Amino acid sequence: MRSETPVRFDEQREMWDIFRYEDVDRVLKDHDAFTARRTREDNEFSSDAENDTGMFQTMITADPPEHNRLRGFVDERFQPGSIREYQPRVEAVTEDVLDTLVGEEQFDFVDEFAIPFPVTVIAELLDIPAERRDQFKAWSDALIARPKNGTRMEIQQIQQERQQAQQEMRDYFGKLVAERRGGDGDDFITLAANAEELSREEKVGFCILLLLAGNITTTNLLTNAIWSLEEQGLTDTVRTGEIGRKQAIEEVLRYRSPVQSLTRIAIADIELNGKQIQAGDVVTLWLGAANRDPEVFDAPEEFRPERRPNRHMAFGMGVHFCLGAHLARMEADVAMQHLLERFDRLDANLSNLDPLYSLYGLKSLPCEVN
Ligand code: HEM
Repeated sequence: MRSETPVRFDEQREMWDIFRYEDVDRVLKDHDAFTARRTREDNEFSSDAENDTGMFQTMITADPPEHNRLRGFVDERFQPGSIREYQPRVEAVTEDVLDTLVGEEQFDFVDEFAIPFPVTVIAELLDIPAERRDQFKAWSDALIARPKNGTRMEIQQIQQERQQAQQEMRDYFGKLVAERRGGDGDDFITLAANAEELSREEKVGFCILLLLAGNITTTNLLTNAIWSLEEQGLTDTVRTGEIGRKQAIEEVLRYRSPVQSLTRIAIADIELNGKQIQAGDVVTLWLGAANRDPEVFDAPEEFRPERRPNRHMAFGMGVHFCLGAHLARMEADVAMQHLLERFDRLDANLSNLDPLYSLYGLKSLPCEVN
């Protein structure tokens, strides 16, 4: 697909698919020709694509210069220096989650580690009791649910559950933002609550965005890491340090990118790889395909943690480059380190894998440990 039809119009979905690294890169950086705004309401062009935060304007669906206002107040707190300060807290969360596995010889890596770990980290950064994490997971699931059979009843039910989750999140974070305004806590809710440049709705939208953007993505990175290392027979090579953890994680991000695609809408007529895209057209940017583009990566179908440079775009590109990229990398590094220290043997069972399609990962990954 990438070599034969790098840019193609899918008649059924009525949108363009873009596969090559160079083209994806160009679209993500060209804000004059492509907008990140998505819903019918906030876009003058009709679109099937959805706005996952579902209700408020946030940075992820804003274009410059509006985007700068919505991201600027928090950018510093996600830079490597600030992220290093959170590391002891992330290590403590890792140990707590691992403690729940004491005495187990088998466990489901997805349910018992990869889901609770990032939810607890976000709960910590928002300064919310960890008990709320089941609720967070339920909200996230409702908001990213996609129809499987596409029947009218199924779609109605998904919409109802999404609306209910949106309402509950709005109420929950609305209350916390109001309570913490003027406070001096170092958590992200207080930071948003005190940001003069944001409206009340935008503050609430930011909290919800953190919750949605930072959880399932990280769950899938962790799952895809254990899956890929087992598949390649490299778990012990990482354990001994022969392959660096950080390099291995970068290659997992490229090889099994948790976010496989992004959407943009054309706001100008533009030619891309010989195809004429018109204002109003929806484009799907296939990050997973771009991350295996042979023009950029040698032997792209091979898992090679030693590759340097590894210019993958698993965290996107341009102004919307993932705010949480340094946090996600640190979480994955800390998690791998503590998992490999805690268990002398960590064998994932790769028979009967059940993939997720909303984001790239697995529904479960049984592991044996001792
Ligand atoms: C944006 C991937 C973890 C917060 C993005 C984008 C991608 C991405 C591809 C670009 C979206 C676009 O251009 O439309 C990932 C992956 C992660 C991860 C693969 C884990 C492995 C996190 C974490 C957080 C986070 C841990 C926060 C706690 C955000 C935010 C944005 C974003 C706020 C919007 C940035 C903007 O629009 O300026 N992420 N993400 N992400 N991510 Fe992540």
